[in-house]
Amino acid sequence: TPALAAPRQAFDFEAIAPQTTDSVFIPEGWEQDIVMRWGDKLFSSAPDFDPQRQTRAAQEQQFGYNCDFLGFFPLDRGTELMMVNHEYTDEYIMFPDFVEGVSTKEQTDVALAAHGLSIVAVAKEHRSGRLTPIVDHRLNRRLTAFSEFELTGPAAGHDLLRTSEDPTGTKVLGTLNNCAGGLTPWGTWLTAEENFNQYFANANSVTDPAERARLARYGLPGGSTERRWEEHYDRFDIAKEPNEVNRFGWVVEVDPFDPTSTPKKRTMLGRFKHEAGTAVISADGRAVVYSGDDERFDYLYKFVSEGKVDVDGGAAGNTDLLDRGTLYGARFTGDSPAAEIDGTGKLPSDGAFDGSGEWIPLVTNDVSHVPGFTAAEVLVYTRQAADQVGATKMDRPEDVETNPVNRRVYMALTNNTQRGTAGRAGVDEANPITANKHGHVIEMVEAGDDPAATTFAWNILLLCGDPNDPSTYFAGFDKSQVSPISCPDNVAFDSVGNLWVSTDGNKLGAHDGLYEVIVDGEQRGRVRQFLSVPKGAECCGPVITDERVNIAVQHPGETDDSTFVNPSSNWPDGGNSIPRPSVVSVWRKLPGKPDFAGQGKP
Ligand code: FEO
Ligand code: CA
Ligand code: CA
Ligand code: CA
Repeated sequence: TPALAAPRQAFDFEAIAPQTTDSVFIPEGWEQDIVMRWGDKLFSSAPDFDPQRQTRAAQEQQFGYNCDFLGFFPLDRGTELMMVNHEYTDEYIMFPDFVEGVSTKEQTDVALAAHGLSIVAVAKEHRSGRLTPIVDHRLNRRLTAFSEFELTGPAAGHDLLRTSEDPTGTKVLGTLNNCAGGLTPWGTWLTAEENFNQYFANANSVTDPAERARLARYGLPGGSTERRWEEHYDRFDIAKEPNEVNRFGWVVEVDPFDPTSTPKKRTMLGRFKHEAGTAVISADGRAVVYSGDDERFDYLYKFVSEGKVDVDGGAAGNTDLLDRGTLYGARFTGDSPAAEIDGTGKLPSDGAFDGSGEWIPLVTNDVSHVPGFTAAEVLVYTRQAADQVGATKMDRPEDVETNPVNRRVYMALTNNTQRGTAGRAGVDEANPITANKHGHVIEMVEAGDDPAATTFAWNILLLCGDPNDPSTYFAGFDKSQVSPISCPDNVAFDSVGNLWVSTDGNKLGAHDGLYEVIVDGEQRGRVRQFLSVPKGAECCGPVITDERVNIAVQHPGETDDSTFVNPSSNWPDGGNSIPRPSVVSVWRKLPGKPDFAGQGKP
């Protein structure tokens, strides 16, 4: 057989085999270092990290828990500004004296302070990818569940967002469950509030049937939460403060260059379990933000602004950009007969899972497009508005991002083991696997390559899993030459437009990792694993530059069994140490330089 044309690559590497080591395992010839661990200092006034003596005050000056999104803006020569989400906390791993079902006031306060965001200036070592935090840099900042955030856009100030502590409906304490996000072309940071439902107790206290249905649609627990913050703070108890829950589940815009700025929860982008918010500029200069709702059978959304982006204006030049525009839900229509989609991954007779799609408008500024919903109701109860207009129920839409080289949009659908099972929606051409265990990746082409288009074409790029499993698909590429991959979560691109995918929840018996996926040329569909993360961790936040690869190692040592109190991971500090979620930098070892960290370490 003739050799296939080599793909363009930002850098070459030897694919690693799937791993189960308690390490960040990297290819031969590469090295790595920890950039920041949970508990590391942003400010010299912080105490040294001590798991036996954790306090709110210490945590407010230290790197938070469970790092997820990672982004970098350039600063002065040799320095960069690093932005990190701290999605949630694992108290049973964090606290050596944790007792299941009990959260003391002190533990609750530490956990609230371990949530949120970190902004940290880092210095880059010359000719390597090593990054060193600059303690006390003037832009360093921790934002936590105690920090003040502002609600903006059409729903701000609405009755649904008012509480006894904030009768204006515009000032919220904290951001919670910030999963992925994106850096905007105008120089701000979008961070997405995802599984906010887990923090709010006692939905069963609500008697109004319509309100109960709304809470159920967002998965609010009927009784107490696992975290039990409601025992210490009334705002986490729906029985006492029914609207506080409506103040979470938003895309938040942060100006990282002004450490005194109040971040804004942009209500115009809707309220759901936002995996991320990734912004691009339309053909006529408007902002377009894609966001998936990470839940089984939930939807993909996009927002298109009314005003034009001031690309060089920073936050100050784009203050209201995301407060006016149109929010859409996505409908995917297959082009093959439904009978040919049999749930096994067998390609339909036209040779592809593909079709067309449309963006269905839900709301424009303060005008609702959904019968029976006011504009504020569309924004606060976005899921139910999208139910009504027939958006397509997807297999857990995670990260959705535009490839800056080929302009196509890539969406990770992590899995949905309920697809096609009793009482649930069946397979369709965009979600073609029954009980989808390993997830898939969809490639979308906006009409005219314009992000503001109202129609698009789409095709399935990958049906993930073990390549020996006939239900998998790698864009038609030779399955003997690809890495197994399961549960895609975050997507990123390198400088030549290859897709990179990180995973969360590998169901193939090995750890999660980071994978390069070729999307153009004769080797389209070639998947190769670049690295593997420690025990119990998911791989998040990939940033791929020509010089280095950064990842966030989230929840090392986590197990599905929440009663587990003896973490199996001691990464990154080793010995019997408590595992610490950390940001890692990986780079190609220069010839003649001594091996810093070595294969598979630290
Ligand atoms: Fe927090 Fe959808 O992953
Ligand atoms: Ca088809
Ligand atoms: Ca995620
Ligand atoms: Ca995930």
